[in-house]
Amino acid sequence: MPTPPPEPHLFVVFGATGDLMQRKLLPVLYSLQASGKMPEGSRILGVARRPLTDASFRALCTSALQAAKSGSDKLIQSFVQERLFYQSVPTEATADFVALRQRVEQIEKASGLSGNRIFYLALPLEAFGPTITGLGEAKLNPAPGWTRLVIEKPFGRDLASAQALNTLVHRYFDEGQVYRIDHYLGKETVQNLLVFRFANMFIESLWSRERIDHVTITVAESLGLEDRAQYYESAGALRDMVQNHVTQILTLVGMEPPGSRDEDSIRNEKVKVLQSIVRLGPHDVVRGQYTSGTTAGQPVPGYRQEPGVNPQSDTETFVAIRLKIANWRWQDVPFFLRTGKRMPVKTTGVTLTFKAPPVTFFQTAEEYRSNPDRISILIQPDEGFELAFEVKVPGREMRVQTHRMKFHYADVFGPLPDGYETLLDDVILGDPTLFVRADEVEESWKLYDPILKSPPPLAFYPAGTWGPDAAQTLVQEWGQRWYYVT
Ligand code: BG6
Repeated sequence: MPTPPPEPHLFVVFGATGDLMQRKLLPVLYSLQASGKMPEGSRILGVARRPLTDASFRALCTSALQAAKSGSDKLIQSFVQERLFYQSVPTEATADFVALRQRVEQIEKASGLSGNRIFYLALPLEAFGPTITGLGEAKLNPAPGWTRLVIEKPFGRDLASAQALNTLVHRYFDEGQVYRIDHYLGKETVQNLLVFRFANMFIESLWSRERIDHVTITVAESLGLEDRAQYYESAGALRDMVQNHVTQILTLVGMEPPGSRDEDSIRNEKVKVLQSIVRLGPHDVVRGQYTSGTTAGQPVPGYRQEPGVNPQSDTETFVAIRLKIANWRWQDVPFFLRTGKRMPVKTTGVTLTFKAPPVTFFQTAEEYRSNPDRISILIQPDEGFELAFEVKVPGREMRVQTHRMKFHYADVFGPLPDGYETLLDDVILGDPTLFVRADEVEESWKLYDPILKSPPPLAFYPAGTWGPDAAQTLVQEWGQRWYYVT
């Protein structure tokens, strides 16, 4: 069925003077307009505490778009002047949100909009509750048209806070109106996991405990803290990366084929994976923190020496986890997950390692295990996949060598769109498939809650390495090692 055309709307961004809006959302909104994906007549209303006027907000946004090299000055000016407005909401008082509603209605009337509204919360976690309450109490929802509420991650700090936030959201919004964002789901290669598996019969027939020995998922960043101490000190890698991005990849790798492509079929299958994971104990998790070291040939400070970080901080910058999915497809297959900052390279990938042949004519079992056959899916930066398989080395002797067959997205399709662009386009179209449902976010917190409540002690690793030794031991105890794709 062709997707219905997007409808003109008012796109209201809370946190409009913040980093996410200025560096990410604004260039994406500009790009959606430039590619004709933002419906004619739509308007963008920036909301924040600061007492800006429309003119000073437009000036701020012009600089941000110029810095992002979004387009020519002329095009940027016409976007900014025609589309952008600003309203200050200085406090959480209902009166301020009533003033916001009046401004929303006034812009809608002046622009001939029929009352379709998107509210995007580009805010810190602690501001979600008061903003949702403000929207609800000031009757910004229900609107004369449709309303969509977009909530950035992290959705809660643990199970209890995520449940409380869901309850609050549902007091004022139906679940069908809610779009919980995880930008990894907007990445083409993350979505391609479904196509790779379910559009290729030969792949799917290998994708189970019958053939797969173990699975590794690596989400490595070479960057460190990047001036985000205030947020990161109270988050850490488990909340910042594992509960959301890493877990999303895990569910897409582990899920059963959905009954159809509709949003609930896919999301139901993801939830079932989370429900089937054997509960984690402290011995299944390694928490690490980087000390000083070298990245890209440059000396870099340790986490505790970063500006704004407590010199005794217990926050983890690395997490490794081993787990099992106790279901028909994956029973007893180890899954190893790891993510960290200040790793040697930026790479996100999934590797499925095949079992050894039952009888090894050409190699010893040890030889096979040192370089086993495997499929690797490279999610970023060099998007694509590769197959490592055995070939005979020509000659009299029977010698076997492992070779790699590679597919690079860039060779065929050129540069890929930004994940945020895909997701914002979906919000405008009203397609929630790539967003996280309430039960999914809670199931994911359920998995990590025991670890958050009694975290294993920190292990340290020098910046520019693959994490603490304990992460190696974690997989070795289950007879395996880490793979990553480059
Ligand atoms: C964000 C995290 O959600 O994802 C950051 O808050 C992290 O800490 C970023 O650096 C990684 O995203 P990407 O798309 O660069 O892998």
